[in-house]
Amino acid sequence: MLKIIHLTDTHLVGRGEALYGTDPSWRLRACVDDILAAHGDAAFCIITGDLADRGGRPVYELMKEILSPLPMPVHLLVGNHDSRTDLRAAFPDAFDDGNGFVQGRIETPLGDFLMLDTLEPMKHHGAFCERRAAWLSEALAKGGEKPVYLCQHHPPFPVGIAGDDRLAILERAPFERAIAPHRSRIRHMFFGHIHRPISGSWRGMPFSTLFGTNHQTALELTPYLSIERALNEPDDTVWGSPEAPHYGVVLIDAELVVVHQRSFLAGPQRFVL
Ligand SMILES: [Fe+2]
Repeated sequence: MLKIIHLTDTHLVGRGEALYGTDPSWRLRACVDDILAAHGDAAFCIITGDLADRGGRPVYELMKEILSPLPMPVHLLVGNHDSRTDLRAAFPDAFDDGNGFVQGRIETPLGDFLMLDTLEPMKHHGAFCERRAAWLSEALAKGGEKPVYLCQHHPPFPVGIAGDDRLAILERAPFERAIAPHRSRIRHMFFGHIHRPISGSWRGMPFSTLFGTNHQTALELTPYLSIERALNEPDDTVWGSPEAPHYGVVLIDAELVVVHQRSFLAGPQRFVL
């Protein structure tokens, strides 16, 4: 069995600075402490973007310091709040697909994790251009018949929250064309961006996402699932929420993908029932 850790949307700011009333660095340290205490045996950890809240090399250096106690490899992706240049300054080994995008492949005995870059600089919506899609097509072809897990920041579909759906991957054709011949091999999609725990399936492919480690999006639902309708909403407010954060503990074997959510601010986490 493979155990991995999924966390997302850490939104780090300067050391000791608060963001929406909480300290993202303190919360990420608490998260790392909990992973060390409870799941230090995970094979690797993925963080699906929005690592920093406003980019900035010192912020990625701070992230490196906070993550350093983790014994497993940590694989980073970029989100709409990130800067590829600042990330690479602090993490020179970050994925690079040869075209400068933060994309790469993690091979495991249970299939390939394909790490995708959906950042469009200076925009908050997601993008996945032909060059990124060409890399994805090639990576999928290279994997033969092996199972695949996609990891990315922005989802390519709506979730029913207008503030988020306006900021999904807006031009989806290159992504859809790249994955179309391989859909039956895609065992799971892990993404971030939404700051809420959501799971389901898209065109038969299972997905999950999580709360961010600092702040959350409120569950304010639209009566439809449509990126295009969300884009036409007259009110573009994004509502936040003070719900407590968590991270994902993912268990994978040949038959199953199980995604657990672990709170890390709740104090002692068990008692006799
Ligand atoms: Fe975010």
